[in-house]
Amino acid sequence: MRRLVAGNWKMNGILAEAMQFVEELGDNPAPEHVEMALMPPFTLLHPLKEALSAKGIALGAQNVYFEPKGAFTGSISPLMLRDAGCHYVILGHSERRNIIGETDDVIRTKLQASWATGLEPILCIGEHLKEREAGKTNAVLKRQLAILEGTDSGLPLTVAYEPVWAIGTGHTATTDQVTETHAFIHEELARLGRPHCRVLYGGSVNPGNAESLMACPGVEGALVGGASLKADSFMEIVQAAARAAA
Ligand code: PGA
Repeated sequence: MRRLVAGNWKMNGILAEAMQFVEELGDNPAPEHVEMALMPPFTLLHPLKEALSAKGIALGAQNVYFEPKGAFTGSISPLMLRDAGCHYVILGHSERRNIIGETDDVIRTKLQASWATGLEPILCIGEHLKEREAGKTNAVLKRQLAILEGTDSGLPLTVAYEPVWAIGTGHTATTDQVTETHAFIHEELARLGRPHCRVLYGGSVNPGNAESLMACPGVEGALVGGASLKADSFMEIVQAAARAAA
């Protein structure tokens, strides 16, 4: 399975910065066995479409609305994302769950709408620190994954395990925690009819820790926030993923 290193720019980036980033990536940046993807803000999707595809980098969005079109001021539909060149869409990111209040039901609806338009969702799951400390990690992940119950297992899906306490904090999960949790997630995905689903790790991934995290059994790539904003650190993580895959 090809590893995926995906950069989630969150609410960062204006056109000039994006163009500089692309230039700094150089030609043919993706090593063998590693797929690269970038999730910039909506405003940068169209401008990045050609430039990224010329470098073999997939494009994705950070969110989508579930209705196909209509009077939903401020929303972006799955078809609009396809039109802008997106292959991926991030769903269920903890910042949307916790700041915007997205529920598992909403995320399930978005999942179906994304599939209906040919997008590949990257479904983010992860526990809060209090939940981990209370021994509830697996129960939380099981509940978040339950939205896959009854879905067509032939539809494309990537899952990203992102412990909430590790996102943007510099507190990366230990390799033991990552290995153990990914084993549980794979077990659960197999039960849900998706034994070959790719599972990424996310949460303070940086050039210094990427190789050891991606060498953990059951980790098939990374969802990178802060360290994906600069071309050099993003590329160092991509190279680390390639070494871990070798
Ligand atoms: P971080 O973000 O790498 O800045 O921790 C990861 C994410 O939120 O996807």
